[in-house]
Order: sequence, then C-alpha cells, then structure tokens
Amino acid sequence: MANHKKYIVGNWKSNKTLTQVEEWFNIFHRLYKENKNADLHNIIVVVCPAFPHLFIAKKLRDQYKLPIEIGAQDISPYSAGAYTGAVSSNMIKEFAGYVIIGHSERRKNFLEDDHILTQKVTRAKEIGLTPIYCVPDKNTYVPKDTDIVAYEPVWAIGTGKIEIPEKADEVALFLKNRFPESVVLYGGSVSPDNIGGFSTVKNIDGFLPGGASLDPQKFWEIIVHASIF
Ligand code: PGA
Repeated sequence: MANHKKYIVGNWKSNKTLTQVEEWFNIFHRLYKENKNADLHNIIVVVCPAFPHLFIAKKLRDQYKLPIEIGAQDISPYSAGAYTGAVSSNMIKEFAGYVIIGHSERRKNFLEDDHILTQKVTRAKEIGLTPIYCVPDKNTYVPKDTDIVAYEPVWAIGTGKIEIPEKADEVALFLKNRFPESVVLYGGSVSPDNIGGFSTVKNIDGFLPGGASLDPQKFWEIIVHASIF
C-alpha cells in the first residue's frame, strides 16, 4: 500500500434517519475513545451522509472532536440561484470538505453524463471542495484537476464480490499514469473481512466502503486495518 496518507471514505448513500445518524456518531465516538492507542495519523477518514444530515454530522464531529472529515454525496452542477431542488456548492461548503461525484448509481439512475459531471467538478473546485470522482473502469473520462479518483467496478458495488486486489492495483496504476497528480481509491464491497487482501498493493491510496460504512463498528475496523498496512 502507498506509504503516504490513505483515505477511508464512507458513502452512506440514501440511508439513515436523523436518529440513526446520531446513533452512528455516538457509537463511533465510543469506539474512538476505547481505542485511544490506535495510530490514525496516516489515515484521512471521510464520512458522506445525505444532504439533510450534513449539518448534524459536522456538529457531532466537532462536539466529539473526531478525526473525521465530512463529505457530500453529490453537488449541483449550477451555482446558487433558481435551480429548484438543487444543493449548490456554497451550501455544501458550510459543512463539508469533500464531495463524491460521478458515482455509478448517479450515472445509472439519474442519467448523469460526462458533461454534467464535469460541471459538478468545476463547481466543487471553485468553492474549495475536494471531488472524489468515481469511475467504473480505467478508461472512463475524468475531468481535469480531479484530485481523488475512485475505481468502483459496477459488479462489485453492494454485491459482496470484491475485485481481486492485484487487479484493482493494476487499474490504480493505470489511473495514476493517466492522472499523475491523483490519489486513487478502490470501492466495491470493501469490508473488515476482505480489506486485509489489499495490505500489499502498491498503488491504491484508500477505500470507499458503502454498506460497511453504515455500521460504525465495521467502519472503525476498516480504518484500523488500513492504518496498519
Ligand atoms: P459497497 O458500496 O461498499 O456497498 O459496495 C461502495 C460504493 O458504492 O461506493
């Protein structure tokens, strides 16, 4: 595994009520306190709740002084203004430092294409949000100046089937050659049970767990595993 900082980005997708978000933070806080010796200095943890929960996530993070960054799962391609239903970059920036863009679920269910995704990256960058740009394969278009690219094969998302670590590492290397400035993550059924298989890969800079991130215990275990790679 790359020896600079590694990212663990939890994508909660369209899950959790307000109460469940509070529960998650309470449990995560307890785990953090109980494991004060865990050395997380080389890990950047990002949690991405749904829009209505960004506020409380940031509030609880601050209150508990957790080493967690907040991320959004999407962003409007437009600036603030007459775009009913859209959540613009300046609103997100009040609570978050990161934003997931181009997740395959957005591409498939919301018909987002390269053009709109490029606009989203532009909106994120101009306000100072770091885009985490998801690609289903190594040849997918990536807008320029994308800082973090997440390789997420569609067949591995939410299926329990993980990409062979060496194969994911090859894709990560390919993406790094395409985008030398980028950090490359792997996502798709990452869990505490299978993350150990990635301990020796060289080009993957972190992980983007979805399902496993909903459970604070599993998410914590993923973080701890990654911290000792
Ligand atoms: P999963 O989701 O870990 O549940 O497969 C990952 C993702 O879609 O980002």
